[in-house]
Amino acid sequence: MIARPLQLGPIRLASNLLLAPIAGYCDLAFRTIVREWSAHPAGVGIGVGLACTDLLSPQGLLRGTATSLDLAATNDFDKPVGMQLYGSDPEIMAQGARWAVEHGATIVDINMGCPVDKVTKKDGGSKLLTDLSRAVAIAKRVVEELEKCPLSREEWMRRTGNSEFLVSGTHCPVPLTCKMRLCWSTSDYEGGLACSPHLAKMLADVGVVGVTVHGRTTEMKFSGEVQLAGIARVVEAVNGAIPVIGNGDVREPEDAVRMIHSTGCQGVMIGRGALSTPWIFRDAWALQTTGVTPAKPSEREIIDSVRRYLALMVEYRDEHYAMVQIRRRMTWFAKRLMTLDERGRIVGVKPLKEAVRNSKSPLEVNRQLDTFLAGGLRGGSYETEEAGA
Ligand SMILES: Cc1cc2nc3c(=O)[nH]c(=O)nc-3n(C[C@H](O)[C@H](O)[C@H](O)COP(=O)(O)O)c2cc1C
Repeated sequence: MIARPLQLGPIRLASNLLLAPIAGYCDLAFRTIVREWSAHPAGVGIGVGLACTDLLSPQGLLRGTATSLDLAATNDFDKPVGMQLYGSDPEIMAQGARWAVEHGATIVDINMGCPVDKVTKKDGGSKLLTDLSRAVAIAKRVVEELEKCPLSREEWMRRTGNSEFLVSGTHCPVPLTCKMRLCWSTSDYEGGLACSPHLAKMLADVGVVGVTVHGRTTEMKFSGEVQLAGIARVVEAVNGAIPVIGNGDVREPEDAVRMIHSTGCQGVMIGRGALSTPWIFRDAWALQTTGVTPAKPSEREIIDSVRRYLALMVEYRDEHYAMVQIRRRMTWFAKRLMTLDERGRIVGVKPLKEAVRNSKSPLEVNRQLDTFLAGGLRGGSYETEEAGA
């Protein structure tokens, strides 16, 4: 078996699996759900090793805007947690990193992969892949700042959660990771000119403790196949100096194992796969450690998880937020609620999704979920489900 917990600087995670940042999706409530599924007894009690906030604006954090503070919200159960910053100004990024340390981060991450215009037009996200000296300057300045605000041993104990802190000294800084794509242009990648191997090496040289590589170019956005060979090239280039975390299109536990086997990466980050299958970390770690994937959760367990997620969103934010989220998130949960009829045809859950979308309150959502568990709100073909996703 290939199971090896991932080590990032002074922290040994409980597994080699990480929850990706997904702007608008991976809030504190969802991270809590993922962590709870990870501890589920059908697995080996371990699943996600590290979960990350969605991308955070350092200016927003420093100004204390409500949106940024909501996005950065964490608590003692939500550990270890990565806080991801985006931007292009080394000084502001450094101050943002200090803010993250002061507000509970176990790891700080820099976004070097976001393809969205709003971010790249300000030279952040994957635009940094076109200006490697700026990317490295930001990382260097952030590492310097992190070294100025080390945490005490007691504080490390609070922030490690189910991971281990391996340093014996009294104070140690929060480590920095970076998340990137293969490079900006697809033709560069195809011509063997991807910058990610070189960039990863330079980042390791300035003190970055690990890099995540989404195996697509910026131009590919989210289309086309993930290029495992591109991730493998980064692994080869850093040559063990720091761990590489592979990312992209892991939907089943077997995909995680395949990614590790075919790239040599030391960790796997899962994003969209976790939106439909928040127990995927439990399954992927169990598969790696025992060779067996746990049985799929029952319909009732999945519905209970939806209810719990809704309740947590109300608790951590408010009813309005919870309703906005659950209406769009039901589509993702629904992917694992489809069943087969006696003739082997897929029975969809389009009526359930519609009922949740039209619900006016968490109470009404819960009533619809009751109806579903009693056998109602089913129907619609697989194709109709996918088109609506
Ligand atoms: C809607 C959406 C929002 C995303 N937001 C972020 C983000 O805030 N930070 C980041 O580094 N990546 C972000 N990503 C990229 C994911 O972290 C991940 O790299 C990508 O989805 C590929 O992995 P997956 O196939 O497991 O989802 C986002 C992706 C999507 C689809």
